[in-house]
Amino acid sequence: MLALMIVVYVLSYGFGATSEDKISSLYASNSVKDYPYDLTFEAKSKVLLNGGNGVIFGQGYTNSTEWAIPALKTNGTFSVGEGKFQVDAAKSFTWYDRQAGNGAPQSWAWFQLHFPGTAIKASIWAYDLAAPAVPTENRFATIRFGEEAHLVLPYTLIASTTNVWKSDHTNVTYPLSWTLNFENGDKLEDNSVRGDQEIYGGREQIGNSVYAGFIEAKGKFLGQHAGFGVVEMIQLR
Ligand SMILES: *[C@@H]1O[C@H](CO)[C@@H](O)[C@H](O)[C@H]1NC(C)=O
Ligand SMILES: *[C@@H]1O[C@H](CO)[C@@H](O)[C@H](O)[C@H]1NC(C)=O
Ligand SMILES: *[C@@H]1O[C@H](CO)[C@@H](O)[C@H](O)[C@H]1NC(C)=O
Repeated sequence: MLALMIVVYVLSYGFGATSEDKISSLYASNSVKDYPYDLTFEAKSKVLLNGGNGVIFGQGYTNSTEWAIPALKTNGTFSVGEGKFQVDAAKSFTWYDRQAGNGAPQSWAWFQLHFPGTAIKASIWAYDLAAPAVPTENRFATIRFGEEAHLVLPYTLIASTTNVWKSDHTNVTYPLSWTLNFENGDKLEDNSVRGDQEIYGGREQIGNSVYAGFIEAKGKFLGQHAGFGVVEMIQLR
């Protein structure tokens, strides 16, 4: 009976590795009725280390790490309703990251950005910590230039208070546009492509509900003028 239950579970969804290092080759699948998918991911690049050394959320407050593989080669199939689609492996990629450690802030905004035709990948954090943590206001972008180098750029973030979307599930009002002023004089305007991009799952713990939205970026950034990516917003308080 137990064995049968395990088989049913495995058929419903799965996430795992097929390489010995448990990172380089990954898969994810599920067989639910309305949106089954069967995807494979291959890592071909070095990782992006947030903050240049992989440490986030501040010494003295907690000791968390985060690293990312910003563009895993992606292949497979997915369905939406009656339509089944083959991933265009030549044009597709997936951002994969791991955040591990002790504790986390109660809210944050995070952006991943890609700039078409370049090897520039950016992981951009904004979070506040309560004193006695130092600094309390944390805004930093970590940029990886392909296999070449990392760059860490402080910036200031201005979130719109007028272009917003309010969730009826969580009652959280999320900004939909942001201005990022970087230390080197570069500046980006990020815009959520639509209001409702919240994934709702209750409010008890970090990660139960998250705004994970597609964004477009315009402005001036390391010689680029347009990019795209994802904003992730968590708000527990
Ligand atoms: C990381 O944080 C935990 C919880 O505060 C603590 O027990 C542990 O000693 C810390 N580890 C290091 C290496 O600072
Ligand atoms: C992607 O998957 C399809 C279908 O299984 C296969 O024909 C194709 O060769 C794969 N592409 C790559 C780049 O692996
Ligand atoms: C959202 O606000 C409504 C109206 O005040 C309230 O009834 C509901 O419980 C709130 N939901 C959450 C998740 O806080």
